[in-house]
Amino acid sequence: MPSPLITFDNVSFHYAVEGESSPAARALSFAVEQGAFVALLGRNGSGKSTAAKLCNGLLTPTAGQVRVGGLDTSLEENLFEIRRRVGMVFQNPDNQIIAAIVEDDVAFGPENLCVAPEEIRRRVDAALAEVGMLEHRLAEPHKLSGGQKQRVAIAGVLAMQNDCIVLDEATAMLDPRGRHDVMDTVLRLNRERGITVLLITHFMEEATQADRVLVMDGGSLALQGTPAEVFAQPEALRAAGLELPAPARLAEALRSVLPSLPSGVLTEEQCAEAIAAALRKGAGA
Ligand SMILES: Nc1ncnc2c1ncn2[C@@H]1O[C@H](COP(=O)(O)OP(=O)(O)O)[C@@H](O)[C@H]1O
Ligand SMILES: [Mg+2]
Repeated sequence: MPSPLITFDNVSFHYAVEGESSPAARALSFAVEQGAFVALLGRNGSGKSTAAKLCNGLLTPTAGQVRVGGLDTSLEENLFEIRRRVGMVFQNPDNQIIAAIVEDDVAFGPENLCVAPEEIRRRVDAALAEVGMLEHRLAEPHKLSGGQKQRVAIAGVLAMQNDCIVLDEATAMLDPRGRHDVMDTVLRLNRERGITVLLITHFMEEATQADRVLVMDGGSLALQGTPAEVFAQPEALRAAGLELPAPARLAEALRSVLPSLPSGVLTEEQCAEAIAAALRKGAGA
């Protein structure tokens, strides 16, 4: 059984808003296991970014406890180690890159950790190679596409040798090609390098690739399970303001004319196979 890297134990969080205090996280309990790929879904305002910021102590719980590798995020003395272990990639690629040259940007994190210069050099090259951006190491970030910028941001996290990357809608502002490249990179880092991933997204298709899916609504966990389990509950998803992934919706709509179409269709490939099989069955009948 893999050990939990991040644990939320009955976590609530209220932003201190003048006059009233609105709960953005309510009694959240879940764990992200070491090496897992967990997707966190939820409509706008459901508390996803709040949960992301609770993961590395950018926010600390109003009640309950968040631990990273056993370390309580509410203790100041743990924050250095926690942030070394959990890196964040945010939505806007233009807000994450600070240096004027790609490789300097990737070096920024390890420099702050006081890593020796030759080790920084090695880490920066390795991290840029890992995200497919080594050939752009001397480029000016503002000349890169959104997807390339997000991959540089991911390289910055890798160069700090984080165990875990939290991506908060990191593909939301990208074109389809950029989204695809970033998702590809993240999946490979998880599957081949064992990097733990918490992927916050409103693209249902991205969540179908996860080991586990969490759905938030109104600051609470509304659903959780494997993608197959969660996407087998279209009504509960709709109640949480979400739709099924497009291929699953298509399969659902086609079921009236192709009754033998199985449930549990999540990806385009599965949808194509299921339609072909149902048509063959229909033709054979
Ligand atoms: N800095 C803030 N101050 C006050 N309220 C906030 C702040 N950030 C978010 N909220 C509120 O907290 C709730 C959850 O927001 P957020 O975590 O950003 O949700 P999501 O990322 O799912 O869109 C929303 O009602 C939002 O308006
Ligand atoms: Mg958000």
